[in-house]
Amino acid sequence: MISIALDGPAGAGKSTVAKMAAKELGFIYVDTGALYRAVGIMFIRKGISTELNCDVEEILKEINVDIKFINGEQRVFLNGEDVSEVIRTPEASMMASAVSAKPPVRAFLLEMQRKLARENNVLMDGRDIGTVVLPNATVKMFVTATAEERANRRYKELTEKGMSVEYKDVYDDIVKRDYNDSHREIAPLKPAEDSIIFDTTGNTLEESVEKALKIIKERLA
Ligand code: DC
Repeated sequence: MISIALDGPAGAGKSTVAKMAAKELGFIYVDTGALYRAVGIMFIRKGISTELNCDVEEILKEINVDIKFINGEQRVFLNGEDVSEVIRTPEASMMASAVSAKPPVRAFLLEMQRKLARENNVLMDGRDIGTVVLPNATVKMFVTATAEERANRRYKELTEKGMSVEYKDVYDDIVKRDYNDSHREIAPLKPAEDSIIFDTTGNTLEESVEKALKIIKERLA
């Protein structure tokens, strides 16, 4: 099986690049952030704050996370409920980042991700795919862009979905999440030694997709 790891910070354009590239290559696109987000939703529903003053392992026992591909698109389920939309709020983003720093949460989701890659040709988007989940991935790419540009894109995406958000809050959340994700002890956000660094700053999404596809195809050739 062929696996392509696309890691990088929030808003770098990973998911768009990954989706389009997966379509073109006929691979399945796996958005691993959605798994952490689904776990986070359970904590939010239990009224727990991002400090996570709770027994994380006990709560994990009550959680079943599953993903299904419906018409080629990934949907994520929390205890049988399709939470693919509710996981997209800024609150869910911050909680996903908080729970993802907990080793039991990472262990809980690891095998599911590896199994998908054993059984399918995948393009997997996340933070630690090239470093931890699939260290033998066929191609590893680290997609990045400046925090300003990522905040601009995220702001546009959220407002286009009809969410009422302030640019400054979006920017602050991006910077905070970058910090959390890259400073945690376990599986921090960082490029794998053998990953190709791809900076999308200044590119339109179409340009990013085109350039990424060119790099991937060259590596797969
Ligand atoms: O990619 P995303 O923004 O949907 O991810 C949400 C959070 O989940 C992110 O802030 C960190 C965490 N995450 C992770 O730790 N490892 C991954 N492979 C994917 C996401």
